[in-house]
Amino acid sequence: MTLASLLPVALASPLLPSEDKPVYWLLAGDLKTAPKGGWGDGFLATTVATRSSGHNYGHSGAITASFRAGSNWGKATKHMQTYKDRYRVYVTIQFVHNDQKDTSGVSLDQYKAKLKSFADEAKTAVAEPVLLTPVTRRELFREQSRYVNAIGKAAASKYNLVENDWMHLDEWGGVFFARIVTDLLVEKYRELQQFTTDNSTLSALIKQGKPA
Ligand SMILES: *[C@@H]1O[C@H](CO)[C@@H](O)[C@H](O)[C@H]1NC(C)=O
Repeated sequence: MTLASLLPVALASPLLPSEDKPVYWLLAGDLKTAPKGGWGDGFLATTVATRSSGHNYGHSGAITASFRAGSNWGKATKHMQTYKDRYRVYVTIQFVHNDQKDTSGVSLDQYKAKLKSFADEAKTAVAEPVLLTPVTRRELFREQSRYVNAIGKAAASKYNLVENDWMHLDEWGGVFFARIVTDLLVEKYRELQQFTTDNSTLSALIKQGKPA
């Protein structure tokens, strides 16, 4: 037997079966995901279980086009390659905040095409793309808005980084919205339960529409 024929076996043996691999999270998005104002850092700090890990590529001011044109998406796809053997890589993709502005120059069709290309490239890199709707501003977006509407504006204002700035989340706001994201992810992908930590107190408050 030649050495070459042994190589694939030797390389494959230290790898864990797919279902035992921890998760590597790559968070792609605009300011709603970014450090200082988004939920991404809160997510990595409080809901990612031991052995799993991740990186926040959220970038304040990013739109889908600039995220690709700049180095962010390129770095994220490199990370997919680096981690895919040891981890199951999940890529969250969350844009809209800046893309939806009239000045962005992005049409709805272009926006959809951009999101699709991020998702397709993640799949090609053997990562699981997850498209997220944005953290609510004052518009209506799914679970987060249901909650923010339920607790009222005064209670919701306490997640603001700066008073009367409804865009950026403070540290607790980031942890709080990370919990909403995590609970929705676990609901959709059951296998993520063991790779995330839970906070049943906080999840219950969110479900009941009570301030947390
Ligand atoms: C869990 O949620 C409660 C209620 O919001 C909060 O007080 C507590 O700090 C959270 N625990 C962790 C470990 O994040």
